[in-house]
Amino acid sequence: MNTTASTAAIGVFDSGVGGLSVLRAIRQLLPHEQLLYVADSAHAPYGERHPEYIERRSMIIAQFLRLQPVKAIVVACNTASVIAIESLRKDLDIPIVGIEPAIKPAAELTRSGVVGVMATSATVQSDNVKRLCELYARDTKIILQPCPGLVERIERADLDGPKTISLLDEYLNPMLDAGADTIVLGCTHYPFVAPTIQQRVADSVSIIEPGAAVARQLRRRLEARSLLLGKSVVGVANSAQSLETFFSTASMGTSAKAISALWGRPVAVRYLENL
Ligand code: DGL
Repeated sequence: MNTTASTAAIGVFDSGVGGLSVLRAIRQLLPHEQLLYVADSAHAPYGERHPEYIERRSMIIAQFLRLQPVKAIVVACNTASVIAIESLRKDLDIPIVGIEPAIKPAAELTRSGVVGVMATSATVQSDNVKRLCELYARDTKIILQPCPGLVERIERADLDGPKTISLLDEYLNPMLDAGADTIVLGCTHYPFVAPTIQQRVADSVSIIEPGAAVARQLRRRLEARSLLLGKSVVGVANSAQSLETFFSTASMGTSAKAISALWGRPVAVRYLENL
């Protein structure tokens, strides 16, 4: 086993603060690993951008993380994953784990045969999502619901204010009216408003967020390459260091406020001014 490599951090990134919902699941499953998180908040939302732009930003951030160095990268962003993951895997020599809307589990779970997928416009329009629907949901009605504006609310940590609630109602109601009993959160920002969503739908409606599945996939990939932090090096690797380091491309004040609010404790955020 390569001890140096296994003690390296895991890099996680998103267009903004949404990937913290995935970071939370990774932290739960892998309590001793060093985690580096990059929020590209200066360039969020990705979901309303051209695919080439999303691919370029994803590559810049992944290369920054690779240089830290990290032993694996989690693309904690559905939009970046469905658009850029193949290029990232071609370009980088470490495990790259992505996230995509949980259409397969939703199609297996639904009883009404109608599934609503909340995601960004870019994710909804992507070929990868079309492929997921064709592969796993031929007998299920999938309603792909773009949700412009929602990411901006969550970037401000506004999880249940009047504007957030009005956007949620606008996006949820057509899916519920069509009989959806299963809602897929196809953007990593949305788990932060899951409690607000749950209050606005019937108890019988299931809400699927795949953060924990991504964390398990990351653990499998690290295990397969003997890159999980070994028990014997946990103490050495963790001595005198904070286990999470946060970076943001947006101005420090705003980012630190939102990241601290969503992470659940005050954290310092390093400003990546020129990335
Ligand atoms: N959090 C991201 C996702 O999972 C993207 C949000 C955005 O920047 O539009 O899709």
